[in-house]
Amino acid sequence: MTSELGVDAVVLVGGKGTRLRPLTLSAPKPMLPTAGAPFLSHLLSRIRAAGITHVVLGTSYRAEVFEDFFGDGSALGLELEYVVEDEPLDTGGAIRNVARKLRAEHAVIFNGDILSGADLGALVAAHRAAAADVTLHLQRVADPSRFGSVPTDGDGRVTAFLEKTPNPPTDQINAGCYVFRREVVESIPAGRRVSVERETFPGLLAGGAHVHGFVDDSYWLDVGTPEAFVRGSADLVRGLAPTAALPGPVGESLVLDGAVVAADAEVTGGATVGAGVTVGVGARIDGSVVFDGASVAEGAVVERSVLGTGARVGAGAVLRGVVLGDGASVGAGCELLDGVRVWPGITLPDGGVRFSSDA
Ligand code: GTP
Repeated sequence: MTSELGVDAVVLVGGKGTRLRPLTLSAPKPMLPTAGAPFLSHLLSRIRAAGITHVVLGTSYRAEVFEDFFGDGSALGLELEYVVEDEPLDTGGAIRNVARKLRAEHAVIFNGDILSGADLGALVAAHRAAAADVTLHLQRVADPSRFGSVPTDGDGRVTAFLEKTPNPPTDQINAGCYVFRREVVESIPAGRRVSVERETFPGLLAGGAHVHGFVDDSYWLDVGTPEAFVRGSADLVRGLAPTAALPGPVGESLVLDGAVVAADAEVTGGATVGAGVTVGVGARIDGSVVFDGASVAEGAVVERSVLGTGARVGAGAVLRGVVLGDGASVGAGCELLDGVRVWPGITLPDGGVRFSSDA
């Protein structure tokens, strides 16, 4: 059996996630706790909801943790298979590397770090209706100059893959989700690094293949950076991003079982507080992700930040737009602002780091 939708799914989860370091030193990006569950759980729930049941994970970095957590996928109503690259093969190489596991004529390929509300059934239907070789989900975005853009003609055929430019001719960007005809997967060179974006897609166009665009403007976010990661998690908690894997009701916050939050502490803006976390009197956590076992002492303020497993924030400390690695400890009264990353296990003494002088 392949699935109700008659396609396989492939999820690329082998990247090193360098932009999310130090969080990705201990866990690959798709396994980071996001709205109370590994990021990948949310994507898998969407794949299942669309009626796809056979899913192949293309893994490389920290490959074993995926199977340890998701097993054969039966608990999710999926049949999960794992293919491991000894050396990372990049996105196109990773797609080629799972070819032998594909069963259906077409496969939907996902980057494992995208949150999206696109209708997968409609994407597959558009691919079939166009009889395309490859169909790309193209997302319309407000500021396309931050991305490479992908124009299409009146029939929806992709006409070019353009590099980032200040004035792109279209607001459509590659959303990191594609339907491939199986023969096209098999045509990618095997056993070496291939970038699907830089090599496979331009090569297909140059060779006259039918590359189609499925243009969409529903929810879309690439959670590859700390700022996007906290936003994505908060959007899942608040029900702005679609998922069937939220371990609680949609709301302003998600506090997992075993967390202890002082009665007058505030947890807002879609923040998640993990299992075993303690939040002290008068503390304020807004739009942040607090991994299991962390602690936020009395009067501390944590906004748009990620606190790794077992990280500690001292009394009255202020963190805005910060990443704390696992077990890092920020002393009382410290003030850490946008972009600071504290490596796992590092301890900042009380009052040891501030941005302003009015301590
Ligand atoms: P950064 O290092 O922060 O750029 O993150 P990344 O390593 O995840 O790279 P990027 O965001 O460009 O990757 C897009 C998607 O492709 C992610 O889901 C990655 O897990 C996946 N990916 C990237 N490189 C490889 C690879 O060599 N093998 C496999 N299997 N997946 C990959």
